[in-house]
Amino acid sequence: MSSESKPRILFSREEISATVSRLAAEIKQDYQGKHPLLLGILKGSFVLMADLIRLLNFPLEVEFIRLSSYGGSRQSSGRIKVVQGLRSPIKGRDILVIEDIVDTGLTISFLLDYLRQRKPASLKLCALTDKPSRRQVPVTIDYPGFTVPDEFIVGYGMDWNEQFRYLPELCSIEVED
Ligand code: IMP
Repeated sequence: MSSESKPRILFSREEISATVSRLAAEIKQDYQGKHPLLLGILKGSFVLMADLIRLLNFPLEVEFIRLSSYGGSRQSSGRIKVVQGLRSPIKGRDILVIEDIVDTGLTISFLLDYLRQRKPASLKLCALTDKPSRRQVPVTIDYPGFTVPDEFIVGYGMDWNEQFRYLPELCSIEVED
């Protein structure tokens, strides 16, 4: 059983829009003319991906990968598996991973290692939110959005037990596992 409180807004639509525009401007400067592959991690990154690519008006491709992590919903177990893999080869490509949140860092570290083994030309990370207080392994976020407190974050694509992805703001909820 799990229960949760009413979502409390941490970042408004306007703040999100300004941050996504800032990220897009940085990405545009670095990737224009490179035809990068933006690789979203399902499901949490789909809203960011949709908003971001519409601000990047240059040729790029979009792919998604789905990972699973065993363990409770609050805590990443670190035992991660690729459930839906890449459909395009990434060898020699400029890959920009799009993630919703870096918490312990275990998921993204696993994915970056997995991708690195496939020899991309370059590999960078854009993460909408960063919860550095819970980090277990070091992670470099090349394009960071918001730093968030040690609270459970929902909205703008992020869920708690598949709930709240539809919220247009970034919110926090109190959860009990
Ligand atoms: P990590 O492996 O602990 O860094 O967790 C990464 C994944 O766990 C993210 O991609 C999310 O799917 C999920 N996650 C971690 N913290 C939160 C949160 O506060 N809200 C929603 N999902 C989270």
